[in-house]
Amino acid sequence: MITLARDDLRSLIAEARLAPSVHNIQPTRWRQGDGVIELCGVPGRSIPVVDPEWRDWRLSHGAALEGLVIALAGRGLQIGQVDIEAPRSLSPATPTQTIARVKLASIDHRPASDPTGTRVSWRGAFRPMDGAANAALDRLATACNDLVLVREAPAILNAAKLGDRAGLFFLRDVAHRRELLEWLRLARSHAGYQRDGLNAEAMTLSAIEAWGAGLVLGPLFALLDRVGLAAPLVAEHAKTKSAAAIVLFHRPKGEDAFVSGRAFYRAWLEIERQGLKGCPMSVLADWSVARDALAALHQVPADRRIISVFRIGRPKGAPKLAHARLPVDELLV
Ligand SMILES: Cc1cc2nc3c(=O)[nH]c(=O)nc-3n(C[C@H](O)[C@H](O)[C@H](O)COP(=O)(O)O)c2cc1C
Repeated sequence: MITLARDDLRSLIAEARLAPSVHNIQPTRWRQGDGVIELCGVPGRSIPVVDPEWRDWRLSHGAALEGLVIALAGRGLQIGQVDIEAPRSLSPATPTQTIARVKLASIDHRPASDPTGTRVSWRGAFRPMDGAANAALDRLATACNDLVLVREAPAILNAAKLGDRAGLFFLRDVAHRRELLEWLRLARSHAGYQRDGLNAEAMTLSAIEAWGAGLVLGPLFALLDRVGLAAPLVAEHAKTKSAAAIVLFHRPKGEDAFVSGRAFYRAWLEIERQGLKGCPMSVLADWSVARDALAALHQVPADRRIISVFRIGRPKGAPKLAHARLPVDELLV
């Protein structure tokens, strides 16, 4: 039975918290009992309008567990056993839930290190396609079986337009916009700017653009939409079509999203390992019209579900490697 000293647990969590979470909500908490580490979820840190099935919430916990696995490997440890609690129906008022209990073991073999420190969401445009990017995509396609890479320019353009339609579909729902705004940190003066949510820098927005985004997504949206200006103002197709590829990340149908989340983080780290950056475009996976169209067009096997869609490439500009994260002591319960 392996039990960690408090300081060792703290340094593990400091690394594990680099894992991605939807809207950077960071819903995962950790607790150590006798020889067991409990991964807990805070239902209050959730986006029930955007994520009514709590799928992205569970995916985020899965990514957090994978973050722990990677941090453990660096210390000669691995997960010996994982017991996952049966998912139950949740509301933001539900108290903190145990999601999984893991037992630690010594590692059999030390895997190659993972680029957790440099992986970061890149929401800007991409450099033009070239031989190096092409070779990186070839390597990515062979490194990960959970991905379909959409590489032809017309197909990327099609996904880019579909992304805008999907985005607008969700943004037209006022509750959706309100929830999104709750997690946006558009001004540096926001108390959560470096802690959680999506800040202006992470979204590659200047101060003026961030201020404008607050108006467009907030009080002006309905009016702008009526006069046909909302669609062009929230459109992302120019950025998306500059991508080297659109990545369809798929997992077995019916798989627990917690399990998919582990593979999701692994896939993203593989993208990073190949020198590529990007960000998920969840609207393409969440809107069934887009998900089904992409699955049919790009021959995603019938027994697999598209869990997430990324746009990736070599960034035009220098991504900031700063990760807004909660302090470790808030993540330990
Ligand atoms: C399940 C899931 C869905 C996500 N969907 C989106 C998305 O639709 N658009 C986006 O820009 N980022 C998306 N992200 C990325 C998160 O916003 C990002 O990981 C988080 O803000 C932390 O920032 P980092 O990735 O730079 O560490 C998603 C992440 C997860 C885990």
